[in-house]
Amino acid sequence: MKRIRIKELLKSEPIGEKVTVKGWVRTFRNNQFVALNDGSTLDNIQLVLQLGDFEEELIKKVTTGAAVSAVGTVVKSMGKGQSVEITVEQIEVIGESDPEKYPLQPKKHSMEFLRENAHLRFRTNTFGAVFRIRHAAAMGIHRFFDERGFLYLHTPILTASDAEGAGEMFRVTTLSAQYPPLTEENEVDFSKDFFGKEAHLTVSGQLEAELGALALSDVYTFGPTFRAEHSHTTRHLAEFWMIEPEMAFADLNDNMDLAEEMLKYLIAYLLEHCSKDLEFLDQRLHQEEKNKPMDQRSPMGLIEKLQFCLQNDFERVTYTEAINILRNSKPNKKKKFQFVIEDWGADLQSEHERYLVEKHFKKPVILYNYPKDIKAFYMRVNEDEKTVAAMDILFPGIGEIIGGSQREERLAVLQSRMEEMDIPQDEMFWYLDIRKFGSCPHAGFGLGFERFVQFVTAMGNIRDVIPFPRTPGTITF
Ligand code: 4AD
Ligand code: MG
Repeated sequence: MKRIRIKELLKSEPIGEKVTVKGWVRTFRNNQFVALNDGSTLDNIQLVLQLGDFEEELIKKVTTGAAVSAVGTVVKSMGKGQSVEITVEQIEVIGESDPEKYPLQPKKHSMEFLRENAHLRFRTNTFGAVFRIRHAAAMGIHRFFDERGFLYLHTPILTASDAEGAGEMFRVTTLSAQYPPLTEENEVDFSKDFFGKEAHLTVSGQLEAELGALALSDVYTFGPTFRAEHSHTTRHLAEFWMIEPEMAFADLNDNMDLAEEMLKYLIAYLLEHCSKDLEFLDQRLHQEEKNKPMDQRSPMGLIEKLQFCLQNDFERVTYTEAINILRNSKPNKKKKFQFVIEDWGADLQSEHERYLVEKHFKKPVILYNYPKDIKAFYMRVNEDEKTVAAMDILFPGIGEIIGGSQREERLAVLQSRMEEMDIPQDEMFWYLDIRKFGSCPHAGFGLGFERFVQFVTAMGNIRDVIPFPRTPGTITF
């Protein structure tokens, strides 16, 4: 008999029918009640084993973590907590799980412990919910762009250029680490390396996405990106996924509109498709908050926060306005910020971003028109010649979730920016070429996928929204 997924079974409630279910045992009470979960939904199905119907040897193997298959009849449940259950006729233990050794005991484990057991943590309610939501968010993204005629473009992961010009790249090489070939100047001879030159893992697919947009009009990438930043924070990963749309014939306003529309679409999509998991995480947050001091608790529950984002316009504020707000803010005057804001031109730290979002505006904020000196070379220089048409979207509890800009489409301006910032022009002839042949205004942004998933799941640490996090010093699994 074909197996039915628990999600499907709980939805259709085929009372009186015989079904086969397969999954992993969460708990087994009184040698009678098995809570079975197959990951298709948060809910377990209860298997009821009549005492005396099964061999003792078999019953002994029904332990937490074991994989089992059961055949039985769906009946209305007498107990509370579930509407239907299965009266079991046959049960088979497919994969045993030694209860003395199985790391996940039926009790609450710390997030740190679960991270060390990331190979098993999918089997908890919390991680089941997080990864179902992560999946739905990815589907929602593809649907959003597909509905608007954007092409999904696969940009390379191996690259010879540093898209952000920030130099935080992982090298990719097949040269011997011990005895690399050397040049006459005693430097590593990368002309002998696999690609005949230095290669790295990409930090962004943007530059290639721009090439696509200048022919296909609207494109987006959705892939892994890598940054060798030594940031030990709850918001940084060395390997993270990024969504990067790029639009031809578009300016900064179009860019901000698209970003806000996309975030709202995704939130609405998740509220529609993941309500059960979101409710679970909402409750979880509520419990966690109880252990925090009053002033650190979030003012809204998870679902309330998501609805709030949907219903309110994001605040659009220029960098210059933001600096004035920060300069006159209490924490700045009382020198409570670690980095006190004095002059226009200062880079904003996460403490400043959080102040603007959480204390001042109390809603998502789009900051735009940043000083050119603190932004990347490809951003379009504004008429004031001091600022660039950049925008960052800041979210409560997360800080920067999106970074983007209108791109510099004027060849001469781009060239002089690259010169100022020491970006090699000969190697990037292709990037300059599209400014020579049919250049046009264009714009795009990057959404950090894990930061978004963190926001919609209320998970405190970014390491808990990607299956196997890579951070400085960690690459297990
Ligand atoms: O602001 P960033 O560096 O922008 C770019 O890479 C542009 N090329 C995007 C574009 O315009 N196409 O990164 C974009 C977003 C950030 O806002 C943040 O959400 C996320 O990527 N991000 C990280 N997420 C997790 N770990 C890290 N180390 C991240 N660095 C950036
Ligand atoms: Mg950024």
